[in-house]
Amino acid sequence: MKKVVFLSVVALLVVIACGILCAQNEKTSPDALTVIHNRKSVRHFTGKSVSRDDLVTIVKAGMAAPTAVNMQPWSFVIVTDRPSLDILAKALPYAKMLDKANAAIIVCAIAEKAFQGKVEIAIIDSSCASENILIAVESLGLGAVWTGVYPDRERMDAVRKEFNIPEGIIPLNVIPIGYPTNEDKPKDKFKEENIHWEKW
Ligand SMILES: Cc1cc2nc3c(=O)[nH]c(=O)nc-3n(C[C@H](O)[C@H](O)[C@H](O)COP(=O)(O)O)c2cc1C
Repeated sequence: MKKVVFLSVVALLVVIACGILCAQNEKTSPDALTVIHNRKSVRHFTGKSVSRDDLVTIVKAGMAAPTAVNMQPWSFVIVTDRPSLDILAKALPYAKMLDKANAAIIVCAIAEKAFQGKVEIAIIDSSCASENILIAVESLGLGAVWTGVYPDRERMDAVRKEFNIPEGIIPLNVIPIGYPTNEDKPKDKFKEENIHWEKW
């Protein structure tokens, strides 16, 4: 009888431990489609600081993006310095959320490194990296938003000047990152009419 009770308790503990482990696993690694559909532009941040490890993880995800002929025509400027974030907030008309963000990534496109040296391809490749960054941010429980720099000449010049980015390099966007207040919600953008099966 004692043995049965003992084995039952052990079995119960194993079930509980598995449950906890599964729950933890779910928390740290939601599946890709869940992350994609939960991604949203986050413009409200709590002020809690983002770790250096997370920023490296995020940029690594950016570098995992596909590029034409695998040229990887990009560089990433990671900004965490408060005065620099404030300067960006002032320079960019639609990036005022930077005043509460704890970090930002400037995704830079490099035409001369792109397939056939084309600006368009550098921009496409760097846009792929930017989306990977936004997805990685969401998967880490952080928030971010793409704020536009390219193709606005004034904004590109302002960002280049402040961060010593050479003339030939294109600052594509500035992505403020921080812990979300959870005010920003994902939008349902599915539209059946935008799908064409087989032919337009
Ligand atoms: C090329 C591009 C430029 C954008 N520029 C800005 C911007 O300057 N400021 C901003 O707050 N959001 C900007 N956004 C974010 C869009 O407003 C946002 O993605 C769109 O409203 C859809 O919302 P969602 O990201 O929550 O799905 C930009 C997005 C893209 C792709």
